[in-house]
This record gives sequence, structure tokens and C-alpha cells, in this order.
Amino acid sequence: MATVTEHRHAATRRKLQTKLLIDGQWRESQSGKTFATLDPCTEDVIIEVSEGDAADIDLAVKAARKAFDSGPWRKTDARDRGRMIYKLADLIEENIDDLAALETLDNGKPISESRHADLPLVIDCLRYYAGWADKIHGQTIPIRGKHFCYTKREPVGVAGQIIPWNFPMLMTAWKWGPALAAGCTLVLKPAEQTPLTALRMGELALEAGFPAGVINIVPGYGETAGAALVSHKGVDKIAFTGEGRTAEIIMRNAADSMKRLTFELGGKSPNIVFADADLDAAVNGSMVGMFLNQGQCCCAGTRLFVQESAHDEVVAKLAAKAKARKLGDPFDPATEQGPQVDRAQFDKILSYVDKGKSEGAQCVAGGERHGDKGFFIRPTIFADVRDDMAIAREEIFGPVLSVIKFKTIDEVIARANGTEYGLAAAVWTRDIGKAHAIADQVRAGTIWINCYDVFDAAAPFGGFKRSGLGRELGEKGLEAYTETKTVTIALD
Ligand code: NAI
Ligand code: MG
Repeated sequence: MATVTEHRHAATRRKLQTKLLIDGQWRESQSGKTFATLDPCTEDVIIEVSEGDAADIDLAVKAARKAFDSGPWRKTDARDRGRMIYKLADLIEENIDDLAALETLDNGKPISESRHADLPLVIDCLRYYAGWADKIHGQTIPIRGKHFCYTKREPVGVAGQIIPWNFPMLMTAWKWGPALAAGCTLVLKPAEQTPLTALRMGELALEAGFPAGVINIVPGYGETAGAALVSHKGVDKIAFTGEGRTAEIIMRNAADSMKRLTFELGGKSPNIVFADADLDAAVNGSMVGMFLNQGQCCCAGTRLFVQESAHDEVVAKLAAKAKARKLGDPFDPATEQGPQVDRAQFDKILSYVDKGKSEGAQCVAGGERHGDKGFFIRPTIFADVRDDMAIAREEIFGPVLSVIKFKTIDEVIARANGTEYGLAAAVWTRDIGKAHAIADQVRAGTIWINCYDVFDAAAPFGGFKRSGLGRELGEKGLEAYTETKTVTIALD
């Protein structure tokens, strides 16, 4: 079996791509500037990456525009477009170990997750959308009079795609799959914390045969490269995943050019455990729902509502599991939790831990950093949390769980909905009536019953309220990359 060091080296053995992908060419940024991407486990610089800004975005958008308006892509049969997406999925599968290692190096997530969760979902998402390419149908519509009316679904045009650092490759796949299936061209702006796997995917996309300009990648910062993409007149749509406040800025900056927008934002998702649930299953599912990916999940079940009579047992079981969780080098296959992505997130999370303590919640596990190097934080559980505490209201985006006691179903529904967010919710119970009441009345885009974090490329995902706009994945996710055109023909 490979040692931890060997796994780590596997990530850097091949030459890392660090340039911008524009019009089928790898280029330095026009300013010549670079930025460092760090290994969050060691805090060391992995490598310097070309830093794109407005000038590079302009070139990338022009390339995407040209590829959309007059390139071979528009004339490519839908079925062949699908085959190219399949080919990309196959190439990713052939390189799965290297890609998983690279993701772990840049992001810090455990290799067991990048290799066995993120990467398989990436491949599945691309294959799912590859299958859609030649199945994007319009309708025939019986309108009044002697007319024949039909609709067709056309690609929205040039898509600007801005993604975060928590699932770098998976977010790339969620953005590329439907855009390419619909026949769009795109400019991707990866997160400044984790640019490396998107660039590697760009190399594989060229190998898969996508024509120049169809896929462009410009790493850089949000306020420069990201903002330039949002305000560029040549972009038809922005798909964004990240923080709500950033989405507000994007919405304002996109207003001038009336861009189509889809947002996938944060949450403070309620996870509700009734006393009649299989409590061991609920505890295991809640651990996954909370601590997967170091708690850096938009849909993390951060507000755990536990019914009074089961409360103490659930808290004790969770605390024991949190204390036993294996933190360490993410390249160790036995590691369950790696470091947070960067110092900013690390500091933000620890400040919430302090707030929880000072507001009077009871810390029953964790509550401090782990070790003295790397951005590791012990899985932290607060009990006796009140709804008005900061740790129960605000998105922490780290391994910090708030356990809240409740008595009745009506009460818990009201309290679950007492948030500006609405991304996901879960309920654990053996009573099918209660489960459906929760599914019916909790205002969230995804409801999990007796499970958590079950994702599938075919199932739409997105938020109510401040958690988002539109849906990704499934047929809904594809629609977001199309415009409907209505054609009416006089019959005499
Ligand atoms: P962010 O929203 O600032 O960054 C996400 C992406 O947007 C990055 O690619 C960034 O470069 C870009 N961006 C930033 N400002 C922009 C602008 N003005 N115009 C265009 N693009 C811009 O999120 P950040 O700073 O990485 O994390 C802050 C907090 O956001 C986290 O602590 C967490 O609470 C939340 N978050 C939520 C995510 C989710 O999946 N819903 C993912 C990442 C962060
Ligand atoms: Mg930010």
C-alpha cells in the first residue's frame, strides 16, 4: 500500500497546469501577475498560478463569443456534442487517482472523499448531461387560428461560471455539464484558493476534442476577474456558487446587461430528529450531514433539532463520535477530517466557536484547533443552543454543530423555517406522516428523509429564499442554460 508521502507526491508528480485557458491556448495573464495556491495541511505554497484580471476576462469572453457565434461548435450535431462530454468523463475516469490527489492537495479534503465521493460524482454528472445533449426538445402548441406553433430550446449563449473552493471539481462539473449539453460556450472563474483541478480538467477537455473557445478558464480573484466576468457585455448568463453577499453584488452588477442568473448559496439547514427515529441511524447521518468536507458544505445540517426525550442520548452519541473522529494528513487513507481550506475560513470558524462559548452554549466536543500547523479544527458540538445565538443563525462553514431541543412537530417546523435560508432540511422518524409533514412544510429546496447528503446528477438542487435562485442538476439545471424560442407559421 502506498505511504502517505507517496500519495502526496502523486499529486505533484506530473507538471501542474498554472496558466489561463483562452481560445484553446494556455497563456500567461496579460499583467504577468501570479498568485500562490497553498496546501492547507502544511500551509506551504504548492505553486504560483497566473492571475487573470479584466483584460484576460475580456479575451476569454471574446473567444467564447466567437466560438458561440461563428465557431464549429454551433454546427456540431447535438449527439456529437454529447460524445465529447462523454469523452471528457472517460478521460477524468482514466486519471481519477491523480485528479483526486490534486484535489486533496489544493483543498485539503481527505483522499478517501476526493477519490470515492467527489470524483465519482464528477464523472456521473458529466455522463448524465452528455446523455441530455440530443434530447433537448421543444413542443408543438395548438394556438388559435390557422397557424402552426412550436417552441425550440436554444443555448443561452456565453455562460460565465464562478465557483467556490469547497468542491472545486464537482462544482466545475455541475457548471460544465449542462452548459455544454445545451450548446453554450463558457468562461470558468475557479476560486482563488483552489484553481488546480479546474485547470487540469481544461487540459482533459482539449484532449476530449472541444473546439477552441468553447471552454475557457481564467483563475484570479473575485473582485477583479470575477467582477469583470459579471459585468462583461459579451456574457449572457452567470452561474454562481458561493456566499449570499457576493450574489447580491453579482445581481446588481449583472443588471445593466440583464444577464440570466443562477445562484447556489449558503444555508443553515435544519436536521430534525424525532424521538421515534432509529437514533443510531440519525446520529450517523447527522455526523455525515454536518462534518462531511470539514463542514464546508452549503447544505450542511448545522442546526440539529432533537426531540426532548431523545436529546441527551443523541448528544452523548454525537459527542463520542466527534471525539473519535480521525483528523490528520488528508493524504492518509484513514483520515476522516482534513484542514479547513485557508486561514480566513479557519479564523472565521474559530471566532464563531468563541461566540458560541460566550453566548452560553455548552461545548460538548471540540471547540479548539487541532495541532499547531495546518488549518485543522476539532469537530465541535454545542448543546443548549438557543435559536437567537449567532451559531444558530449564521453560516459558519466549518465543523461546528448546534444542537437545539424541541418538543412538538408544529414548534419544530416553525423554528426550522425561522431562518433567511432554505437550501436543505432533513428529518429522522419512523412515522411516515410526520416525515411528510416536514417535507411539506419546511421551506427548503431539498428534503432528506432518514438520510442526508444524498446527491444525484438527475435530482435538482438549489435554494428557497436567500439560499439561491434557480436549480442545478437534473433537467431543471439544463433548462437554466437554454432560452425558449417560439416559432409561429401561417398555414394559408
Ligand atoms: P465568495 O462568494 O466570496 O467566493 C466564491 C467565488 O466568487 C470565488 O470564485 C470568488 O473569487 C468569487 N467572487 C468573490 N467576489 C466576487 C465578485 N465581487 N464578483 C464576482 N465573483 C466574486 O465566498 P468566499 O469568500 O470564498 O467564502 C466566504 C463565505 O461564503 C464562506 O465562509 C461560506 O460561508 C460561504 N460560501 C458558501 C459556499 C457554498 O457552497 N454555498 C461556497 C463557498 C463559500
Ligand atoms: Mg469572498
